[in-house]
Amino acid sequence: MENKVYNLAMIGFGGMAGHHCTQLLKKNVPINISGVYDIDEGRMEAARERGLYTYPSKEALLADKNVDIVLIATFNTTHAELSKEALRAGKHVLCEKPVTVCSKDLEEIMELAKKQGKVFGVDQNRRVNKDYVLLKRCIEEGLIGKPYVIESRVEGSRGMPEGWRCLKALGGGMMFDWGVHLIDQIMMMYESEKVTNVFCKMYSVHYPEVDDNFRLTLTLESGLTAHIEVSTNNFINHPRWYVLGDKGTLQIDDWSCRGSIVRPLKDDNVWSAEISPNQAGPSKTMAKRSPDTVETIPLSAPTDVEDNLDPVYRQFIAAIEGKELLIKPAQCLRVMKVIEAAFLSASTNQAINTQI
Ligand SMILES: NC(=O)c1ccc[n+]([C@@H]2O[C@H](COP(=O)([O-])OP(=O)(O)OC[C@H]3O[C@@H](n4cnc5c(N)ncnc54)[C@H](O)[C@@H]3O)[C@@H](O)[C@H]2O)c1
Repeated sequence: MENKVYNLAMIGFGGMAGHHCTQLLKKNVPINISGVYDIDEGRMEAARERGLYTYPSKEALLADKNVDIVLIATFNTTHAELSKEALRAGKHVLCEKPVTVCSKDLEEIMELAKKQGKVFGVDQNRRVNKDYVLLKRCIEEGLIGKPYVIESRVEGSRGMPEGWRCLKALGGGMMFDWGVHLIDQIMMMYESEKVTNVFCKMYSVHYPEVDDNFRLTLTLESGLTAHIEVSTNNFINHPRWYVLGDKGTLQIDDWSCRGSIVRPLKDDNVWSAEISPNQAGPSKTMAKRSPDTVETIPLSAPTDVEDNLDPVYRQFIAAIEGKELLIKPAQCLRVMKVIEAAFLSASTNQAINTQI
């Protein structure tokens, strides 16, 4: 197997497949693109313009004996059936996120992959985003003590991209688009802790069929609260990450990883009986802290993180060659179950007790 170059064929050649194509053509990993198939002739033409072979049909792609891996990069609701077809055709399958739109579909795929003896992987590529890796390292190193609130936000002001993302029947909406990444990131920090409660509010501000904004609150076994927000019509942004620990506060402002940790050097909690005037009005608890009682640690982007698709491809190939898959379908199944609880919570306007 060593030094083998794997042939990968793409089903769906839209924006994300184009991005895969750009990355694969860098030849950082031993994967050759054998061709693509898309139901849209315009996209087939776009593939040919990039020098790619286009299969006349999906059946022709799946019947190509040279193809080792099929990448599924189509509308969200089509992932499950296409993944199954490709597995039945004897291919390894790398599927875009969200892997499916319900946990039952994913369970069936996992079963089928096992039966077929093929690797089924998911492109949860945001596990290597620099802002996330930075946050995870700061928490693991205990720089703010024990976190009790993690706030993760992705905010844009330009609405939703036209097309299937605005349509419920094709798996549109921000929960499936971004929520799946942001939940996955939290789950990967707390793999051994159960999610015990899920509360979600979804909004359809400009796109009536789907959630174009959502607010999701997860409670973990230890009591930690993870608050996840995605907005598409937000003109003043919050920080990307805001975390409260018992020994300090962490903030990562944006994708560039600018941010800081602020933590107390010494106690500034010497309360006097009298309230002295301060900006917060007559309050002792909210009075300004003396600056010499805190230290500020500036944060910056880690330089040793490969924040692109190559780590996803490498672990997938390694799994074909017998190593353990790092982005495990079972982890994605957990995320799917959280998403299902979030939809249930949003539709019933209730917090859902879970053991996920
Ligand atoms: N991992 C990431 O960071 C990331 C980023 C963007 C999109 N995605 C995912 O990639 C997938 C595609 O998103 P996109 O932005 O490229 O959308 P897109 O609309 O640009 O492309 C989807 C393509 O799939 C084609 N298609 C749909 N059904 C098909 C079928 N049955 N057979 C063949 N072709 C079919 C469409 O014609 C279209 O060209 C989605 O699941 C999305 O969630 C992942």
